[in-house]
Amino acid sequence: MALSVVDTEYLKEIDKARRDLRALIANRNCAPIMLRLAWHDAGTYDVTTKTGGPNGSIRNEEEFSHGSNNGLKKAIDFCEEVKSKHPKITYADLYQLAGVVAVEVTGGPTIDFVPGRKDSNICPREGRLPDAKKGAPHLRDIFYRMGLSDKDIVALSGGHTLGRAHPERSGFDGPWTEDPLKFDNSYFVELLKGESEGLLKLPTDKALLEDPEFRKYVELYAKNEDAFFKDYAESHKKLSELGFTPG
Ligand code: HEM
Repeated sequence: MALSVVDTEYLKEIDKARRDLRALIANRNCAPIMLRLAWHDAGTYDVTTKTGGPNGSIRNEEEFSHGSNNGLKKAIDFCEEVKSKHPKITYADLYQLAGVVAVEVTGGPTIDFVPGRKDSNICPREGRLPDAKKGAPHLRDIFYRMGLSDKDIVALSGGHTLGRAHPERSGFDGPWTEDPLKFDNSYFVELLKGESEGLLKLPTDKALLEDPEFRKYVELYAKNEDAFFKDYAESHKKLSELGFTPG
């Protein structure tokens, strides 16, 4: 077990914030956008320069106004309601806690959460997050830059079991699965089925089928939800701790 640098009082606040987030996410049905917020704060990490990552910098207009973050201001504002009740908690911890809770309350795996992230006001330049119109080499460029692996790419893409695309945000439209508020392995099942009326597949989703290394994991996760949940929980924890050494 990793030791935490945070004190008992901070841990108590985390516990309360977790409860508040559970209620808020259930009441507003906002699990998908909360998960996307956590991912977009963390996914800017650059392992070489040790910049970006889950540091709360996305709360600054300079960063949330990047095209890839369209729509996330709503999730930032939801988190602010919790922050105002628990001001000690860093934005960096709060956004990652929101991501973990979003997966949990929609029926996904329990993801280990270690607090202690520090906030930063240094915003990465636009262009560190993946471009949905590209293919496998681009996905590798982006996720390897974070220090993540092929398995992480496929497992984390399963986050699209939640939510939908909005034409006014990304230019894409529709959900990936029949029940976008339930975290399960249906993203992979639908991906293998091919085109279905009303369901979305981004070029980057389809790239997971075309690349043999990626496809191996797609097939595993489609037939074995336990394997998906186990790998997802590990990869999500890694994503949520990029550049952060607890304890
Ligand atoms: C939504 C791209 C990976 C979680 C979206 C949307 C795009 C996109 C274009 C639609 C945004 C909108 O119109 O509202 C990508 C690309 C990825 C990727 C290219 C590269 C692999 C991930 C990861 C996660 C994630 C790793 C989380 C683990 C989500 C969620 C939504 C979403 C939950 C739905 C948001 C909502 O319903 O408002 N993504 N994404 N995505 N993404 Fe991703």
